[in-house]
Amino acid sequence: MQLIQYTLETQKELLAEYSHQPLKGQVALVTGANSGIGEGCVRHLAAAGAAVVVNYVADPEAAQVIVDQINQSGGQATMAFADVSNESQVKTMFDQIRNDHGTLDILVANAGLQRDAFIGDMTLAQWDLVMNVNLKGQFLCAKEAVLEYRRRGIRSTSRALGKIVCMSSVHQLIPWAKHTNYAASKGGLMLFMQSLAQEVSPEKIRVNAIAPGAIATPINHQAWETPEAEASLLKLIPYDRVGIPDDIGRAAVWLSSDASDYVVGSTIFIDGGMCTFESFSTGG
Ligand code: BGC
Repeated sequence: MQLIQYTLETQKELLAEYSHQPLKGQVALVTGANSGIGEGCVRHLAAAGAAVVVNYVADPEAAQVIVDQINQSGGQATMAFADVSNESQVKTMFDQIRNDHGTLDILVANAGLQRDAFIGDMTLAQWDLVMNVNLKGQFLCAKEAVLEYRRRGIRSTSRALGKIVCMSSVHQLIPWAKHTNYAASKGGLMLFMQSLAQEVSPEKIRVNAIAPGAIATPINHQAWETPEAEASLLKLIPYDRVGIPDDIGRAAVWLSSDASDYVVGSTIFIDGGMCTFESFSTGG
């Protein structure tokens, strides 16, 4: 299979899905939004009426194309540089968002990466990088979002004071050999998300997570790009197709909108049934 290629045309088509504009008047930040799942989320949030901020740390050209296409389709988008694991860069990004859009209503904390290795070969640098981006980055961005929601106070555009959607993974549940750093970061994220939801929901800040399975993006290209790899991957997916970023973008819109107003501290698994552990269908 191939990577989904979004265009100005697909961006215009998406608008038809969101004719009721559930996020109108709200501002959404998606971290790591210049490719993969982050791009899917930011395009759907924009089509759903949010003014969006496309965060990137590398490849500003890709971020610019996304911003231009959203603006040309009648949406509203800006871009903001920050390494989510760098506190001062995250603070600067939030200042820029206040400057460009006045405030923030929705954080999709999506930025994440893999540095896979057998335990004996895994370097401290590989361990630290994965923890810094996948876990520390969630803390730094969520903290700034909570502070901004409190500073700004409730507004008429949503029943919640603010929303946070953490991008986790099926590997917050499924152990993953040769990926101990990644699985540990997502397992940690699960309890970070739940604990934060418990802490801030009395203030009407809703914190939830999405746990994607195998979604075809650059992060896992070797798992689906040849027919042999895809066939082997599909053995883990009862629904018998690899996911695409739109599958996640739709859930990000729902979790950010008042349609999910009573959803707090939940993880939505979007994995074609990966977490049903398909290998047990013929064993056990
Ligand atoms: C990983 C992908 C992997 C998927 C299912 C995701 O969290 O980033 O590389 O294909 O989980 O194993």
